[in-house]
Amino acid sequence: PFCFAKNQIIDAQSAKVHPMDIGLIRGYGIFDFFRTSNYTPLFLSDYLDRFIRSASKTHLQLNYDKSALSDIIHQLIEKNDLKNGGIRMLLTGGVSENHFSPGAGDLFIFCEDLIFPSLEKYENGVKLLSAEHVRAIADIKTTNYAFPVWLSADWKAKGAEDVIYHQNGIISESSRSNIFVIKDGAINTPDEHILHGITRMRVLELAPETSIRQVSFEELLKADEAFITSTTKKILPITSIDNQKIGSGLVGPITKQLMTDFEAMEK
Ligand code: PDD
Repeated sequence: PFCFAKNQIIDAQSAKVHPMDIGLIRGYGIFDFFRTSNYTPLFLSDYLDRFIRSASKTHLQLNYDKSALSDIIHQLIEKNDLKNGGIRMLLTGGVSENHFSPGAGDLFIFCEDLIFPSLEKYENGVKLLSAEHVRAIADIKTTNYAFPVWLSADWKAKGAEDVIYHQNGIISESSRSNIFVIKDGAINTPDEHILHGITRMRVLELAPETSIRQVSFEELLKADEAFITSTTKKILPITSIDNQKIGSGLVGPITKQLMTDFEAMEK
């Protein structure tokens, strides 16, 4: 496969990052991730806007504008024959003399296989564990996922799909997805200490009546339905938190409807 690195499209095997890049030694860098559906990069404009915003908020210089990035991406899709796959854009913090300040970062764009959760998980829902945590500079898509990567050994051992973060009784998001909580027909989603997901944005378009507000952990436990959203999961129903059933413990009707409506958005 081909990727974009060192300002050109090259064989992905030859892409290299410097070992002293602060992306590696300090976890300072940004990325974004989207997918293609039948060779079309889905919602590309939104992902590019977020990537450009992440670069600017982290004071990293991105030498390509939106249309240049889009051109590179379309070239990669064609060269890699990427019908249905993932595309990752990564801008590292770069190498600097004090091994701490950002330097001139390296831009990489590469294509990946994409594996969605199994059909069984969409039909029966999945289990989350809770953790007291809030992401730092949460609205920037940084490459720092040290906490959830560390925690994943624990949730995997306990048969959970992922984690839900809460702090001071208020929930924010899952490790790589946003959350929606439904009670008495009303849809709610947190807005603080989250990455503003592109999938979340699409769900808000499908359900504009959603309340964007603080949601307590208590409310989540007492909800009728809940689901998480992300590029790699689409809309994934949550049927248990910390081994407590959500609602009836089955995937609810509002979640099911939104899952169907979301699939239709790709067509
Ligand atoms: N994760 N919150 C966090 C912390 C995320 O990392 C992501 C995306 C989301 C959902 O955003 P979107 O709908 O735009 O994918 C929310 C990607 C998929 C990942 O790291 O795998």
